Amino acid sequence: MEKKYLTVALTKGRLADKTLDLFEKIGITVDEMKDKGTRKLIFTNEETGLRFFLAKGPDVPTYVEYGAADIGVVGSDIIMEEKRRVYEVLDLGFGKCRMCVCGPAEAGELLKHHEMIRVASKYPNIARDYFYNIKQQTVDIIKLNGSVELGPIVGLSDVIVDIVETGSTLKENGLKVLEEVCPLSARMIVNQVSMQMDTERISKLITDIREQL
Ligand code: PRP
Repeated sequence: MEKKYLTVALTKGRLADKTLDLFEKIGITVDEMKDKGTRKLIFTNEETGLRFFLAKGPDVPTYVEYGAADIGVVGSDIIMEEKRRVYEVLDLGFGKCRMCVCGPAEAGELLKHHEMIRVASKYPNIARDYFYNIKQQTVDIIKLNGSVELGPIVGLSDVIVDIVETGSTLKENGLKVLEEVCPLSARMIVNQVSMQMDTERISKLITDIREQL
């Protein structure tokens, strides 16, 4: 049986704003959600049978894997890091940035010679996959939760694996992109069971959104 509402998990912050703009283009508005002052967590659009909530990025694939959300919009960095069982159905083309190995220019030599270095990152799985599987370099990975650029500055790590968008955080802290791991962008993900049970509604939504990209 079809559910009353299709639930969409959005990544709190800039990605949510851009996603809501996209939904608006296909005629789905959730004005209440744009009110920055609100502490409300979940918003329903009765006419379209859609329900939206805001979550921290790394939690979005979790909600979608467990079916608490049928659909999610999240960065490909988080999809790679979290490795959840979800369908990735659409590259939304916004939130474009790059996952990079960054550090002071001198650290370039350590990378070249496959030295045993320390790597700080909010993305330990991506960092591990890049160094161990792609570069075949043994490194020590240190998980941080933000402001990762501090790592090389205060001597916690030699390099970082982090997102670079404009490059200004690196520049202002005397760091450089040393290697590129992969390009990133916002993706739409779908719960595997919802995709089977609610194929029609979900496919229509994907098609409508694709037409706007
Ligand atoms: C992200 C990322 C970089 C910065 C890159 O951090 O981790 O620090 O943005 O953007 P730029 O190249 O345009 O300067 P975020 O703002 O999410 O905060 P965090 O470091 O605390 O995670």
